[in-house]
Amino acid sequence: MAQKILVTGGTGYIGSHTVVELQNAGFEVIIIDNLSNSNVDVLDGIAKISGIRPLFYEMDCTDKNALELLFKENSFDGIIHFAASKAVGESVHKPLMYYRNNLVSLINLLELMPDNNVKGIVFSSSCTVYGEPDKNPIDENAPIKPAASPYGNTKQINEEIIQDFVHSGAPIKSIILRYFNPIGAHPSGEIGELPIGVPQNLVPYITQTGIGIREQLSVFGNDYNTPDGSCIRDFINVVDLAKAHVVAIERMLQDKSEDRVEIFNLGTGKGASVLELIKIFEKVSGVSLNYKIVDRREGDIEQIWAQPDKANNVLGWTAKESLEDTIASAWNWQKRLSEKGIM
Ligand code: WQD
Repeated sequence: MAQKILVTGGTGYIGSHTVVELQNAGFEVIIIDNLSNSNVDVLDGIAKISGIRPLFYEMDCTDKNALELLFKENSFDGIIHFAASKAVGESVHKPLMYYRNNLVSLINLLELMPDNNVKGIVFSSSCTVYGEPDKNPIDENAPIKPAASPYGNTKQINEEIIQDFVHSGAPIKSIILRYFNPIGAHPSGEIGELPIGVPQNLVPYITQTGIGIREQLSVFGNDYNTPDGSCIRDFINVVDLAKAHVVAIERMLQDKSEDRVEIFNLGTGKGASVLELIKIFEKVSGVSLNYKIVDRREGDIEQIWAQPDKANNVLGWTAKESLEDTIASAWNWQKRLSEKGIM
């Protein structure tokens, strides 16, 4: 009997790629999503890749009654919780929406798990919790610094809520995954990043500029203390990231660890600058990108990249895709969207 996994936010960018990998690994997946930042057509893309159309319920994780009914009708072995508001800039302007959505959603799920025999929850966290690192690469023992945005603060608080609930004796386990910068798209071109409105993140803005949707990319600062003056990030392929979730849920459900809460940094271990990424895009696409250097973006940190040894050695997962292939997958996806007249 296939183990049943609830994926909240499963029609989103990282969620949809994770659903495909879970299905490929033989799990039965049910998706809930309120479609506030994703499109239900993603289910077609998932089905085209895996051959299995996951069960989907349009649902908001802040609606505890709806969740209660869902848990009564299904016996989930585990949860992967992606559903959250995630735009750093927006969170500065709408903090209460972010605190309500991101905290109440998690609390609802945790409250329902024990009575419904759900063994564990994999939580989608972010390297944002580290703030500006004192040194790079950064491992899981690095200090958690005051968050630079309400979004980042909700991730820090979420992690503490999980730790405190498990420490209180709750009969559940958790694996917290701190993502660095997820980019790229599924090589099939059937699913990828679908930013609604003007992209906040770098790579979708690059590909939309490359295809002509955006006039020009603004590079937020080249006066940082880095080799080429632009910020450095650890850009990780979204399919690599999705595969890490399968390894994590298997580890948790097979009780492979004494620790009831484990934390892993998910990155490549290599930093790349904004200007380097632009050069890679131009190389793989053959397109000369129109960009200009502008002032720094408030809240940006200068440089951060992962020390992924713990994920490599304990979780048994390593990022495999090259930056070139990853950028090429993002470009391929952008071209597919344009062919379909979607963007
Ligand atoms: C990367 C670099 C920008 C856009 C955030 C969240 C993180 C995760 C990913 C949710 C920065 C520069 C960007 C542009 C630019 N979000 N940039 N021009 O800020 O590292 O991470 O998004 O899970 O939690 O913190 O990602 O892609 O926005 O920016 O120059 O139009 O690209 O200044 O240096 P970021 P990003």
